[in-house]
Amino acid sequence: MSIDKIMVVGAGQMGLGIAQVCAMSGIEVVLHDISEEIVEKGINSIDKQLTRLVEKGKMSENEKNETQQRLTTSVNLSNASSVDLVIEAIVEKMEIKTKLFKELDKLTPDHTILATNTSSLPITEIAAATNRPKRVIGMHFMNPVPVMKLVEIIRGLATADEVFDQIKNLTEKINKVPVEVNDFPGFVSNRILMPMINEAIYTVYEGVAEPEAIDEVMKLGMNHPMGPLTLADFIGLDTCLYIMETLHEGFGDDKYRPCPLLRKYVSAGWLGRKSGRGFYTY
Ligand code: NAI
Repeated sequence: MSIDKIMVVGAGQMGLGIAQVCAMSGIEVVLHDISEEIVEKGINSIDKQLTRLVEKGKMSENEKNETQQRLTTSVNLSNASSVDLVIEAIVEKMEIKTKLFKELDKLTPDHTILATNTSSLPITEIAAATNRPKRVIGMHFMNPVPVMKLVEIIRGLATADEVFDQIKNLTEKINKVPVEVNDFPGFVSNRILMPMINEAIYTVYEGVAEPEAIDEVMKLGMNHPMGPLTLADFIGLDTCLYIMETLHEGFGDDKYRPCPLLRKYVSAGWLGRKSGRGFYTY
């Protein structure tokens, strides 16, 4: 069975990138969020990205128009009844994700695959909230989606081989590279990345150096393209905190304890680039 039509739930930074790359690869995409205002803003932002690709000569005007025609919006989840795959990209909170998966399980046909772009939460637990754990899978894209090649593919305990193969093929179709990893907190990417970001935040918290200095050390000293605090602001400090909490809870080891300064920034609404303030101001 081919995947011709998908719904992306969550028109935030990840959902928009996922919707864009899928539509560019010839797939019909329904972009869903909780309000008209959010989805409209999302579509405008994708339009800007497509215009930029045309200006750079990476896409023709005709391809841009066709991509736009493949993109529709939704604020009513029952629109999921016509899709072959749902990719969820909403807030990184287990109770919010499982509530959504329960609803999607009721609203979608039996063949529909339910995928989550979670950065760290157990796929098996999300799958268990549905009556179709065989058809639930993790599809972890990297930020910014149109640029980054990797998609971590994570099977839940019950995910069917056939579903894994379909998702692997789809990932290749949208010009990404699938890498299979097992279902453990943070998978591979965030199990390694987030403790480094958290440690960089501790380094600010303990007054070892200013954010600019820490980022400079990691860029010039370790050849990282972006310092860890710039990257944290880019990912979203709320998302970083939720991932650290998942690692801390999942492994029960204090080496994953979120830095109190990270908690403080998130409580203040300093979420990084998306809120205009984090370790830097935007
Ligand atoms: P975001 O905060 O930019 O966007 C989340 C969107 O979900 C918002 O537009 C919000 O209105 C919408 N939303 C929330 N609850 C909803 C619901 N019940 N129904 C429909 N829409 C709902 O978040 P972001 O950064 O796009 O992250 C989304 C997911 O992707 C999270 O699970 C995160 O862990 C994961 N992720 C994030 C990465 C990053 O660098 N930010 C990288 C890879 C994965």
